[in-house]
Amino acid sequence: MREQIDLECLPAATPVELEPGVTVERRGFLSLAAFGAVALARPLGAGSAARATGSAWERFLEEAVPAARELLEPGAYREDRYLHAVASLASAIDDVPVPDMRPSGQGENTFLGGSYGPDPFVVLHWRMEPGSRIRTHAHTYGNVVTLGLEGMARVRNYEMLGERDFDAEGTFRVRMTQDQVLLPGRINLVPLEHGYMHGFEAGPEGARGIDITTRRKERRETPYLDVAEKPVDEAERIYEASWTD
Ligand SMILES: [Fe+2]
Repeated sequence: MREQIDLECLPAATPVELEPGVTVERRGFLSLAAFGAVALARPLGAGSAARATGSAWERFLEEAVPAARELLEPGAYREDRYLHAVASLASAIDDVPVPDMRPSGQGENTFLGGSYGPDPFVVLHWRMEPGSRIRTHAHTYGNVVTLGLEGMARVRNYEMLGERDFDAEGTFRVRMTQDQVLLPGRINLVPLEHGYMHGFEAGPEGARGIDITTRRKERRETPYLDVAEKPVDEAERIYEASWTD
């Protein structure tokens, strides 16, 4: 049985050590304070590409948190508008501190770490070794702004044709809605309303980035997708697919 890792956010009780002796859990305001203090207090040491840019991250939080909360107000919320607003602010982030990471369970040589707020965000840091893959999976309850920070990854997004059904038996058809080269500073969006499945393939230098997730629906186990290599309709980018363990 494959270990189930939640790609929309780490489990709520998962403690993450951002720096030696500084362990946080997701969504805690104090955790954010600890995170910011660490970012400001010392340069980063996890990898040659890590750059101390806590101020850019803090500016993002200062602007994005109140903006996001306002855009999430009942009656004001429109998903694409929300995601593009968060993405426009996230695009100014050039790097963030690199937390301790653990194997993702979604493909060999891929790693996940960090899971912290503040509300409404859950931020997940990911790293991929050269040539590694993160399996194509559906986001069912949290939409995502993915920001590339280092290296390159090919990201492909899909959505089911017709009514979405995460319990569908057998084969169904999906549309590839994006086929993107994610580079540092580039954004990939995962709305819940369209293009809500994605998978990653790291380039020859590997890749690193963050997912800024906003939970909108009831949590459920992550569905994984098998997609046929060749499309049934090239022009429309339609593929046969099925759910897999
Ligand atoms: Fe994802």
